[in-house]
Amino acid sequence: MNRSDAERLASVLELLGLKETKDETEADLLIAVACSVRLSATNRVFGTGRNWQKIKKPEAKTLLTGCVLKEDKKKLKKYFDEIFSITDMGKVLPKIVTGKKQLDVSSVFSGQYLEYLPNYSSDFKAYIPIMTGCDNFCSYCAVPYTRGREKSRPQKDIEQEVRALVRKGYLEIVLLGQNVNSYKPNFTKLIKNLDKIAGEHRIYFYSNHPKDVSPELIATLPNLKHFPNYLHLPLQSGNDAILRSMNRHYTQQDYLNLVKKIKTEILNVTLTTDIIVGYPGETEKQFQDTAQVMKKVGFDMAFIAKYSERPGTLSARCPDNVSEAEKKSREKILQEILADSSYAHNTKIVGTIQRVLIDSQKKDKYYGRTDSYKVVEINNNQKLKIGQFIKAKIIKAEKWKLIASLVS
Ligand code: 5AD
Ligand code: SF4
Repeated sequence: MNRSDAERLASVLELLGLKETKDETEADLLIAVACSVRLSATNRVFGTGRNWQKIKKPEAKTLLTGCVLKEDKKKLKKYFDEIFSITDMGKVLPKIVTGKKQLDVSSVFSGQYLEYLPNYSSDFKAYIPIMTGCDNFCSYCAVPYTRGREKSRPQKDIEQEVRALVRKGYLEIVLLGQNVNSYKPNFTKLIKNLDKIAGEHRIYFYSNHPKDVSPELIATLPNLKHFPNYLHLPLQSGNDAILRSMNRHYTQQDYLNLVKKIKTEILNVTLTTDIIVGYPGETEKQFQDTAQVMKKVGFDMAFIAKYSERPGTLSARCPDNVSEAEKKSREKILQEILADSSYAHNTKIVGTIQRVLIDSQKKDKYYGRTDSYKVVEINNNQKLKIGQFIKAKIIKAEKWKLIASLVS
């Protein structure tokens, strides 16, 4: 989401006549897009602000946008000339760049901010926000406070953006939102319509809330041509008391039932998740429930985070009482379970031929991802083009990647 916001900022600035520079000491305008999900991300924003004050040209302006908590805003004002809401970029940037209060940019800056077409930072992979904000108020999460209420983007605008990208030859599109399943009026209908756009491309969506994954979505996904059988399904915790305290609206059993239904209806589905360890008051026994669910589900990939207290959230009223050492040890245990399940999944596709989108190169090795989103390393003597689909035969499984050889 932040990358997509940065791409939109870049395109607005370009329209205002500014040129991008990678050299921060040379810039006239420096803009940081903040993330407040974890304390470490907030600390990076403070670090960037402090550093810019040291190295920037004296007349250069520094701005801050993205997700900033009210509690941090006051302290960050020291380092940034202006802190503005991302939704106001069409108003704030023209004012700062031209010094004028009003500028007639209505032809470009009409509608909500998601309508400003981004400067996509890749020429084969693009992120498209389809909604912003979140109404779920999970107790630990800063997003409802920083991004505000849920707001869906009109379906015809999303269709237009996808169509334009496909026409330009983009091969991978990711539909983004804090909880895409609650896209209004109907997420399944949206993806069914997007699926009709002809081309070679593939489309993913991210992120989902288990309580909002509908039976229609599960029934539809395997029949779509451009949407791989991939679902990100944040578990957060496998213990009912913790889930209740997190305000997640499902139990361990609800989650396991949902996974069972998904695995039955969507053949070879790739399942990934988010987990938080060391939530306030999480006992060893409660943590073991999460470990058990991870073992039962066998995720393909997971983002395992140590709980980080975010000021203003409901959980911040409870003491952050699981020690850092304990959080680290729990994280490590889950990483090991994940490594086992990831390896088991990888082993299953050894010997098969997979479509891979090549996305990077290191020396004579090329890297890419299968449609099931597994990392593939290709040892190849020929030169390959970054940003193209190739067919690869999987010859070996490792924990975090597959080794393959080029077929065509
Ligand atoms: N501490 C740790 N992890 C968090 N996440 C969100 N808020 C916090 C927090 N306060 C994680 C959740 C979410 C992912 C995007 O970030 O797992 O799914
Ligand atoms: Fe945060 Fe996601 Fe919960 Fe929304 S659904 S409050 S973004 S964790």
